[in-house]
Amino acid sequence: MKAYLALISAAALALAACSQEQPAAPTAEAPASAASEAAASAAPEAASEAPAASQEEAAAPAADVSCEAVVESDDAMKFNTSEIAVSQSCKEFKITLKHVGSAPVTAMGHNIVVSKAADAQGVIADGMTAGAASNYVKEGDERVLAFTKLIGGGEETSLTLDTSKLAADGAYEFYCTFPGHYGLMKGSLKVGA
Ligand code: CO
Repeated sequence: MKAYLALISAAALALAACSQEQPAAPTAEAPASAASEAAASAAPEAASEAPAASQEEAAAPAADVSCEAVVESDDAMKFNTSEIAVSQSCKEFKITLKHVGSAPVTAMGHNIVVSKAADAQGVIADGMTAGAASNYVKEGDERVLAFTKLIGGGEETSLTLDTSKLAADGAYEFYCTFPGHYGLMKGSLKVGA
């Protein structure tokens, strides 16, 4: 009985060894060939995707460039932004000014004037002399690169800036020339590529 059991267990061991070996061989090969197939098929895909992705990236900045900005102003004498980025890849840059308040133009009028930062004080002083009828901008002021009319609550206006007038390294500002507003209503106009 003991010998019989020993035989059986020996046979079982032999079978076990056999059955372990046989499946082991194909499974060891299968992952290898599957991996090399995957690598072979993945490689051309990766290679063909890479140039497409970089082309998209190169094209993206040009497509993403906005040649306009919207600035909101309110009854609290504020613009909702202190910086406007202008790309010189735009021939013209449009700035829309919205007055989201309700105060009349005579009490809380706003405009947007663009000039070199260094010219702002002079533009504002001469604009005050010119008066409300001139939108607080001196007629023919050559320091002024672009300006909007004066608007009151609920109104909207815009200006178009010729970007060829801007130097890449220039310091420009946009501001409101309504008397007393410059202190709170100004921002920098950044010129970029
Ligand atoms: Co104002």
